[in-house]
Amino acid sequence: MYKQIILFVVLVSAIFGLSKATLAVDISSQTNTSSFDCLKSNGYSYVIIRGLETGQPDPNGPESIENAWDGGMTKVDVYAVPCPLCVSSSGYGQILRMIQSIKAYNVKFGTIWLVVQGAGYWSTYRDENQAFFKDMINGANTDDYSVGVYTSASQWQQIMGSWNGAASYPLWYSNYDSNPSFSDFKPFGGWTSPTIKQYNSDQMVCELAVNQNYY
Ligand SMILES: *[C@@H]1O[C@H](CO)[C@@H](O)[C@H](O)[C@H]1NC(C)=O
Repeated sequence: MYKQIILFVVLVSAIFGLSKATLAVDISSQTNTSSFDCLKSNGYSYVIIRGLETGQPDPNGPESIENAWDGGMTKVDVYAVPCPLCVSSSGYGQILRMIQSIKAYNVKFGTIWLVVQGAGYWSTYRDENQAFFKDMINGANTDDYSVGVYTSASQWQQIMGSWNGAASYPLWYSNYDSNPSFSDFKPFGGWTSPTIKQYNSDQMVCELAVNQNYY
């Protein structure tokens, strides 16, 4: 009997712990500390904040990162929306300027997620897109940041073709099936397993518009 009670407690805490630990949000608006407090009490402790907006450092990013830590998030990453067709700035330069803008604010973050989506923002030549991607990696490597890729199977195919040159980086894929699980995942781009899934877009949580993610 005593053993069964212990087993029950272990199981319940495992299930509870799992459901709390596997949800994340990503955010593109300026977000204050009380909003992060609220996200935390709703089971989110991992946030991915926009650091680069169409090739320019997001002016709201650094403060939101600081507020995320102050609001009790335990994992804070950034995502970078590049401008591959901006002739005046390279992939390297865009990522470098994002890092500098956050560093100037003296806040820490984990991984940089490079966004590969929106074929209209990319070249029609896949080898140019691959070169731009590698240039962004070089930008992230100047500071030893870990890098991941945000994309989807169809977006990757349109922009990068069958290239699998990014498969050594963790994959954050989107599929808006409202299902917080990897059961839908099919290999593409050389990735055989994902790290994060964005399963819902534009949900209101704590009066914030967020995308919901499972990891
Ligand atoms: C924080 O942001 C939320 C959502 O935008 C807003 O409702 C709230 O008033 C803000 N709180 C503070 C203390 O600024």
